[in-house]
Amino acid sequence: MVQVSERPGTAKITNLQQKFVYEIAVMYDAENRFLEAMQMMCQCCQHNQMKSLLENHIRETEQQIRNLEQVFNTLGQQPKRVNCDAAAGLISDGQRFMLLASDNQKILELGLAGGQAKVEQLECTCYRSLIKGAEQMGQNQIVQLLQQNLQQEEQASQKIEQLMPQLLQEAKSAEGGNSGRSR
Ligand SMILES: [Fe+2]
Repeated sequence: MVQVSERPGTAKITNLQQKFVYEIAVMYDAENRFLEAMQMMCQCCQHNQMKSLLENHIRETEQQIRNLEQVFNTLGQQPKRVNCDAAAGLISDGQRFMLLASDNQKILELGLAGGQAKVEQLECTCYRSLIKGAEQMGQNQIVQLLQQNLQQEEQASQKIEQLMPQLLQEAKSAEGGNSGRSR
């Protein structure tokens, strides 16, 4: 039987290195969850720009996951996942929205973009904090790997924020055209 203390995410954290490894494991879980969620979103998305944005970020996220594995290696550890409840919650919110908005493609895509924007902000905040931790430990190679991830998240965040007004406008125009139908 697995001892509670042996399960990832249940060991006591008593120093900065343990805190860092724990947070990397949570991030590793989050990135894996977000990757799967984006692959699902991509299948539901018919908007060309949004689809290519997602496809691009899926490739980046695959690289980010490899970077995090490299971080574990550098610390002499096996990659491990610790449940990221924040990621699971954001994905669950997104799935509920997709179900509720499934009859209106434009609203669906607008909602997906809003959800993705939240994800990118969360990731940016997490990577900034991890970079501080790696700097403090003097782990320059890890700092570089995490900076690469942060840069991609910042760019993805910016691109999705820039696309949202257009998606909103398109949803509004589609609504205008359908205004008689809901009566
Ligand atoms: Fe991301």
